[in-house]
Amino acid sequence: MFPTHRPRRLRQNPVLRAMVREHRLSRAALIQPLFVVPGSGVRQEIASLPEQFHLSVDKLVEEARAIADLGIPAVLLFGIPESKDEVGSGAWAADGIVQRAARALKRALPELQVVADLCLCEYTSHGHCGVVETRGGQVEVVNDATLELLARAAVAQAESGADVIAPSDMMDGRVAAIRRGLDEAGFTGLPILSYAAKFASAYYGPFREAAGSAPQFGDRGGYQMDPANGREALREMELDFEEGADMLMVKPALPYLDILRQARDRFPVPLAAYQVSGEYAQIVAAARAGWLEQERTMLETLTSIRRAGADLIITYFARAAAPRLG
Ligand code: PBG
Ligand code: ZN
Repeated sequence: MFPTHRPRRLRQNPVLRAMVREHRLSRAALIQPLFVVPGSGVRQEIASLPEQFHLSVDKLVEEARAIADLGIPAVLLFGIPESKDEVGSGAWAADGIVQRAARALKRALPELQVVADLCLCEYTSHGHCGVVETRGGQVEVVNDATLELLARAAVAQAESGADVIAPSDMMDGRVAAIRRGLDEAGFTGLPILSYAAKFASAYYGPFREAAGSAPQFGDRGGYQMDPANGREALREMELDFEEGADMLMVKPALPYLDILRQARDRFPVPLAAYQVSGEYAQIVAAARAGWLEQERTMLETLTSIRRAGADLIITYFARAAAPRLG
């Protein structure tokens, strides 16, 4: 082949190189996660997630305005409630933290899309994503009893103005249950973005500190996916698709790009990838140690996620990346 074929011909001139670039990141694909806490005037940096903040509702609105001004179309809301209980009732309380935040955001910034993370773990005293029962001395996260509570929380989020409901619990059948709950409450047009292939990942470490949602006993291996399983991830996505999910997510992103790629070829719906807290934190930490260039690493990882097939990228870098993108 050589010397006829010289791929470098299209690389040497930066203008031409940009013209033949296959994948482009755009702000329109970004979703910035935000953490809302009780109180007012709170804007406290999260130790495990530099440059990310615990925000009270008033400060959240300010932050969201800055985000919208950067051309980022959506935020993903996580709530840290005042108090927790056994069943996570803060998840569906009309005055629950995410419900109050969503109302304030929609009032102040009607165009900014509010994606509501839907799970119980931020609201349960035990930190698990579902109802916990002891059966024969064994503690178990009970699937079907959890579905009802998730549906109830989804309706509360819908009533407070959320634009997209994003269940992250990994219970079986939750998309169908949530869809039914939303439809019965009249929210037939409200889309579900399902955390369909969500792995039991060490990369959630910094988030659990941010959300105070680490399980008090055991781990999430009984409901989140085994990192070794690719076929099963596609099956999880298939089930959520069939249950009526409007968009499907793979989470975390970089360690699971193979899943994203295969899903892209299989499902005719928008795909999201979540570059999670640990993926963010390791880049920031290495950059702070002087071992990586943060900006380049950020753009390279985001581009890789896009190239693998993500239409939407949920990333703590959204704010930092937006000014660099078209
Ligand atoms: C709650 C939830 C988690 C994340 C998103 N929703 C934590 C977990 O499952 O333990 C992780 C997000 C991140 O690490 O950035 N179900
Ligand atoms: Zn959870």
